[in-house]
Amino acid sequence: MPEEVYLSFRDIRKTFPGVVALDGVSLDIYKGEIHALLGENGAGKSTLMNILYGLYHQDSGEIFLKGEKYEHNTPKNAILHGIGMIHQHFMLIPNFTVLENIILGQTSPHPPKLEKEYFRNEVLKVANRFGITVNLDLLVEEISVGMQQKIEILKALYKGAELLILDEPTSVLTPQESQELFKMLGDLNKKGTTIIFISHKLNEVMQISDRISVLRDGKLVATVNKSETDHHELSKLMVGREVEEEYEKKESKCGEVVLLLENVSLIDHHNRDRRILKDVSFKVCEGEIVGIAGVDENGQKELAEIISGLRKPSSGKITMFGKDVTHATTRQLIEMGLSYIPADRRNQGLVLEFSVADNTILETHYQKPFTKGFSLQKSVITKFANDLVREYDVRTPNVRVPVKNLSGGNQQKVIVGREFSKKTRFLLVVQPTWGLDVGAIEYVHHKLLEARDKGLSVLLISTDLEEVRKLSDRILVIYEGEIVGQADAQTSVSEIGLMMAGSKKQAVSL
Ligand SMILES: Nc1ncnc2c1ncn2[C@@H]1O[C@H](COP(=O)(O)OP(=O)(O)O)[C@@H](O)[C@H]1O
Ligand SMILES: [Mg+2]
Repeated sequence: MPEEVYLSFRDIRKTFPGVVALDGVSLDIYKGEIHALLGENGAGKSTLMNILYGLYHQDSGEIFLKGEKYEHNTPKNAILHGIGMIHQHFMLIPNFTVLENIILGQTSPHPPKLEKEYFRNEVLKVANRFGITVNLDLLVEEISVGMQQKIEILKALYKGAELLILDEPTSVLTPQESQELFKMLGDLNKKGTTIIFISHKLNEVMQISDRISVLRDGKLVATVNKSETDHHELSKLMVGREVEEEYEKKESKCGEVVLLLENVSLIDHHNRDRRILKDVSFKVCEGEIVGIAGVDENGQKELAEIISGLRKPSSGKITMFGKDVTHATTRQLIEMGLSYIPADRRNQGLVLEFSVADNTILETHYQKPFTKGFSLQKSVITKFANDLVREYDVRTPNVRVPVKNLSGGNQQKVIVGREFSKKTRFLLVVQPTWGLDVGAIEYVHHKLLEARDKGLSVLLISTDLEEVRKLSDRILVIYEGEIVGQADAQTSVSEIGLMMAGSKKQAVSL
């Protein structure tokens, strides 16, 4: 039976100032298929879908929906045409109930008094039809992220979605929640829903899609059948070469203890009964990479802020290089040999108004060779910045432009380059490859391994479990501010996933 084309993109072009986000993309989506859009960060996946959904408008090119030209692309019109989009960041209102969120903005034929019951029945009908179990009366702030995503999907279905677009839906989920999502998508698909699934993860697209389209630098490189492709081909299509699946690692030689945390706790200012960090104890030695795995917002950010001296713990003790640094300032720690790549690069890692060059010497500007006597050595700084830009492949017109003009990935490269070029002994890195393309990710990973082999110590905090597993000699899992377990590269993903979800706990000894 020939496939029925449901949706067609014809030669779509879209530019943003300085970037061609989509460069003549043509793509057919068949009715009833699960179609993955695979591509590296910045490839243009979200832009293509945002154009369909009407958040942006294409510069040129056409869209056809069920054989007809689809012209007035606005979110409202998309919903009317049966297109539902689940964004990377959910758009639910935390202090509303699930039901209130789903029916937000809907009008019923009934007087207000009867309205709620009417809507409840309507929503339940849809939920039953698709086999989705939900409690409509919980507040959104009370439910897990995985559940919130389910609600977003139910909301789209309730509004009549025949096509569901999910933009990197697993980036906020544990491995188990991802599997549940895939099962749900499979069920929806069997009942006739067409699905476009955006991802940069090969495993995921190989697991759930019928066909896979690969975008690279705004161009559609290929569309392949899942049954006729494999990891190797896909990674080549996506990056232009094969990706290293695993790194060759030398045995780690654990030396002296560099960082020691003992019962570090942090109380929430807004709710003094709540502890953001609970009795966190661990150590990091010379010559090892310790990874902290966990789903986002489980205390990782605060932990990094405390270790880097930006925040003080409510109780507990921190020792670095044998000195009590519980109350040390960031500058003191940097002078002792700390390098810090923060998660919040725009606020903590950079001064956005400053030039690229000035950002490469942010915390070292007062030291030699950048300062001699009282004067900044402009030519030394410029040369240093130019070298860094070259080595880290920072895409910038020159080093004098404000760093705020650079894309997120290039800003990250400035920070990474700066921190790696310091005379460092201890690297605290949080989401170090966030927003980078595969080539830059591998470069940063090799740099971290190189640092470890030279005997430096690295504390890697990342929500990307694959990254943590690839690099770490030891893995600690954080859940709700507590270290709930310990693992190594051999521990299975599903076991770590259980710890990340808080459903498995084990005692961790120092
Ligand atoms: N609103 C925007 N303003 C400027 N540039 C943008 C905007 N949205 C996306 N881009 C740029 O367009 C390119 C494609 O981005 P995007 O579609 O988000 O990629 P992907 O979803 O594949 O990671 C990137 O270079 C990105 O920086
Ligand atoms: Mg995207």
